[in-house]
Formats: sequence, C-alpha cells, structure tokens
Amino acid sequence: MLRKQGKGRDPLKDIRSSRGKELEGKMVVLCVTGSVASIEVPSLARELMRHGAEVNAVMSDSAEKLVRPETLEWATGNPVVRKLTGKTEHVRLAGEWEGRADLILVAPCTANTISKMALGIDDTPVTTLASMALGGGIPLLVCPAAHEPMYRNPAVEANIQRLKERGVEFVGPKFEEGKAKMATVAEIVDAAIRRLSKKDLEGRKIIVTGGPTAEFIDPVRVITNFSSGKMGVALAREAWLRGADVTYIFGGRLNPIEEVRSKRVVTTKEMRDAALEELEKGKCDAFIMAAAPADFGPEKEAKAKIRTRDGALSLRLTPTPKIIDEVRKGWPKVYLVAFKAETAPARDDLIEAAKRFRKESGADIVVANDVSGGKAFAAETNSVLIVQDSGLKSISERSKNEIAGIVLDEVSRSLKRTTLRKA
Ligand SMILES: Cc1cc2nc3c(=O)[nH]c(=O)nc-3n(C[C@H](O)[C@H](O)[C@H](O)COP(=O)(O)O)c2cc1C
Repeated sequence: MLRKQGKGRDPLKDIRSSRGKELEGKMVVLCVTGSVASIEVPSLARELMRHGAEVNAVMSDSAEKLVRPETLEWATGNPVVRKLTGKTEHVRLAGEWEGRADLILVAPCTANTISKMALGIDDTPVTTLASMALGGGIPLLVCPAAHEPMYRNPAVEANIQRLKERGVEFVGPKFEEGKAKMATVAEIVDAAIRRLSKKDLEGRKIIVTGGPTAEFIDPVRVITNFSSGKMGVALAREAWLRGADVTYIFGGRLNPIEEVRSKRVVTTKEMRDAALEELEKGKCDAFIMAAAPADFGPEKEAKAKIRTRDGALSLRLTPTPKIIDEVRKGWPKVYLVAFKAETAPARDDLIEAAKRFRKESGADIVVANDVSGGKAFAAETNSVLIVQDSGLKSISERSKNEIAGIVLDEVSRSLKRTTLRKA
C-alpha cells in the first residue's frame, strides 16, 4: 500500500521520532564546516530527526568541498543555507522571533571556525549563525574535529577556553591516531538532548545498577542470567540527560554511554562492594537497582578448570549477598527503586509478587515485569507494573528508554516532595 503524502507527511522526514520524542518541537540548526568528519553529518541529521528534531543545515564554503549540499538537503528535508542572501537566512533561523532555533550545533567544527567564533568574526554562514547564537542567547554546542597539532595550537586552545567561559558547550573530541576526532553521532545526539531537556534532576546524585552478575564455578565457567543491561543503560542515560550526577555500576557486555561515570563488575559481591563504596562517599538521593544479580553461586570456586572427562559434577549453591537489603539497612533515607523480574504471566500474580517484594525489600517503588519464556530480557521494549505508596500503575509495552523516563518521573516527583517537606 502506498504511504500518504501531504500535510504533515514528508517522505524525507518520515523517520521523525522513530527512536524517541526527546527533541519533538525543537529546531536544530546544524552548521557544517570544512573537516573530513563532515561525512558523518547526514547520519547526524537523520539521528536528530529520529529523536524528533526539525533540522536545518548551514554550510561553509570549505564544507562544500567535502559534502554535497544536495546530500544535506536530502538528509534534513529542508533547503540548505550555503550563503546569506537578501532573504537574511540567519535572521529566519536564529533571529528573535518565535520558531527560531532552539539549538545551534556546529558539527564538525574546524579549528578555524572555533577561533573565529571566539573572536566575534563572522564571514561565513556558519560563523554568522554562531554570532546570532552567542548574541541572542541560543544554546551553542560545538563538536571539534582537526588533526591534533591544529587542535593543540595554543591560539585554538585559548579560544576554546574563551568560548567555554561564555557558556558554549563542547562535545569531544576524542584523541586517536594523531587526530582530535569528532565525537560519535550518538554522543552528539545525547548532548543535544541533554542540553534541551528538562533538568528536573539537576543537583541530584543517583546510583543505577544494571545488567547481570556472574558467579564462578571455575575460572572459565559461570552461573548467570540473560539480563542484557539495556534497562540499566536506559535509566543511567535518562538520569544524566535530566541533569543528575549519575554513577552506573553494571555487569555484562553492554557498554554504558561514555558520558556517564561507570564501573564494570563481574560477581554479585563486586557489585555490592562497588555500590556500598559509592554510597559511603556521601549524599545519594536515589538508588536504582535495575541489575539482575546471580542470586546463587557455587559454595566453592574450583581453582582450575574442571575436567569434563571426570564425569558428573555436583554443585552446592548458596545465596549471594542481597544488595538491596544492605542498601536499605545502611541508608534508610535514600529513595530506593527496585526492579523485580518474576515468572508470573497472570497479572494478579505479578501484582502480588511486586507488593510482597516491596514489603520485604523496603523499596519505595517496585517496577515489576513478567519474564516467563525469557520475555523482556535483551528485548528493546517491555511492559511493567509500578507499585508504590500512591498505588499501582500499569505501563503498556514501550521502549526501555520510555520506561526509564516514566520511572525517573516518579523519582523526580518523590524527591521534590521530600525536599518540600524538609523546607
Ligand atoms: C580534505 C580536508 C580536510 C580537512 N579537515 C580539517 C579538519 O578536520 N579540521 C580542521 O580544523 N580543518 C580541516 N581542514 C582545513 C579547513 O578546511 C580549512 O581550515 C578551512 O579554511 C576551514 O574553513 P571553515 O572553518 O570555514 O569551514 C581540512 C581541509 C581539507 C582540504
């Protein structure tokens, strides 16, 4: 069947919000300068759109030697500004009127453009847009890319410092192979979302655990579970986007996002030790236990690999430390979020299990889901039940990022209530 075109439906923009709604209603001006990293720009524009943004591209002459304006027109679905004309494109995009840019993103940004922006020179469409941002109070996000010596030019370093002092935010670069490489598309998109999202968790310290832990049978064999860590990463990312100071303690193979301070562990005891060490550092507002620790481990770990030719093997399993109990006991005032995976396909059984677990663990809020038949583990989506003092909420199937948003809304509301009570 043919898809409908027409009002609100543009075949070049049909990917909009397919990955998230964080940038819906936001207009991003994507300024491109003459670095080879500009070959990443079409993907960057598309990814911003997948998170809901309207994107308008602006290019310097040097950028045009490296990436075609037609490619950016296709990628954004909008005309590309290549020079300023009597239409005063810079005013349309960034002048003081409703509908102007919410963010000016310079990616990639050459050493040349960094210095011009810092000195107030505007002689390309990109530097003019930067001037409009700096003078008009529009957030300016800069993603440098250059050969390392160009980036290390003391004049460039001083100009970066100058821009930072004026509130300009830098994403990257990453130093590799003699180059100051542009941050990845995912890092830039996350930085844009963070810059534009509500900061209701600013000043809050939040510890998140995620992924599975494993208990050793011998040096190469373990007892573990199928948790992927996707829910943990989604929670850590969302808390960071909303301004929290986040520590992510995790097991498993899924890497956390670069911007979040994180610690990888293997066993439940390592996860417990890392969590308590972090709590002992002081002020923690919320502890979110989304990890799936291996609840049982062999009583004794064999020092050498166990030979299979020796026949059947009996293992005595003992419970591993209950991290959540230790957190509640040692830090009774920390807002405690517990995730509970149950094999309970019937809704009433899941509600019962969640309520019981909430009582036993002393958690403020329990997020429960059914994992019978391996459901939810490693999946992109989940449906959950949220049990707390104020009652029960059923969250129908949606992405783990969206579930993270809903859980953190509850955390934010509760922390605000507690602060108000104390005031
Ligand atoms: C193939 C090629 C790649 C380049 N890559 C970079 C780069 O990564 N970073 C940089 O600062 N300059 C780079 N340059 C040099 C800039 O294009 C040059 O400084 C130019 O004047 C920048 O103009 P603009 O900042 O207005 O885009 C490159 C030049 C060429 C020809």
